[in-house]
Amino acid sequence: MAEKDISKAVIVRLPRYYRYLGELMEDGVERISSNELSVRMKVTASQIRQDLNNFGGFGQQGYGYNVKYLYTEIGNILGINRQHNVIIIGAGNLGQAIANYTNFEKRGFLIKGMFDVNPRLIGLVVRGVEIRSVDDLETFVKENEVQIAALTIPKTKAPEIADRLVSAGIKAIWNFAHTDLNVPEDVVVENVHLSESLMRLSYRVCSMQDNEKKENEEKQEKKD
Ligand code: NAI
Repeated sequence: MAEKDISKAVIVRLPRYYRYLGELMEDGVERISSNELSVRMKVTASQIRQDLNNFGGFGQQGYGYNVKYLYTEIGNILGINRQHNVIIIGAGNLGQAIANYTNFEKRGFLIKGMFDVNPRLIGLVVRGVEIRSVDDLETFVKENEVQIAALTIPKTKAPEIADRLVSAGIKAIWNFAHTDLNVPEDVVVENVHLSESLMRLSYRVCSMQDNEKKENEEKQEKKD
């Protein structure tokens, strides 16, 4: 099924299904009902059925879902059973942390090259990947069938580098720089902002604390 046929909201949830199904496989679980999956994932069973029905007939009445089959199908939909060649632009703290994380490879994301402008970094090797001069970017992209570029550079530099990547033929940008990129329609951008995630966490923890405080005050008032 083509990506355009599945709603964006479902696509956003698929990696979580994939992760849970992977864990079930590791635990030796061969099949699971939507109710059991619902308890594990803390999502309603009807949401699970609705989401997975998008792919047609994965579940069977009275049998549940075949874990391995579903895992493989979701992997196919997400395209992670294929290899994606990735480059990292900006070999500083974040760029090197990404290069050092081995799990991306297990998902088919192969770090092929890293690029920087800092002469002190150029020539260094991070987990087998050489840091090259950003001057070599276009040639490298053309010669190495690169599909995805991770941007871990200052936000002021991101638009120019994004333009260069697009001109070189890159169709997917994993953007960590805190700026929105203007790219043509046929280029996809996934923005990752840890600070936004932290702010959401802050909101949730603050509202929890405020509610607790309010409840305690109400209890105290009743006592008084
Ligand atoms: P860093 O300063 O350690 O690394 C940035 C690297 O980019 C440096 O090595 C620098 O020489 C290089 N660079 C600068 N201009 C370049 C260019 N035109 N081409 C290639 N390389 C260039 O900074 P850090 O901590 O690794 O952060 C990198 C970026 O990621 C920053 O923009 C930061 O705000 C952002 N960031 C985003 C996060 C997120 O969740 N989205 C989390 C942490 C950092």
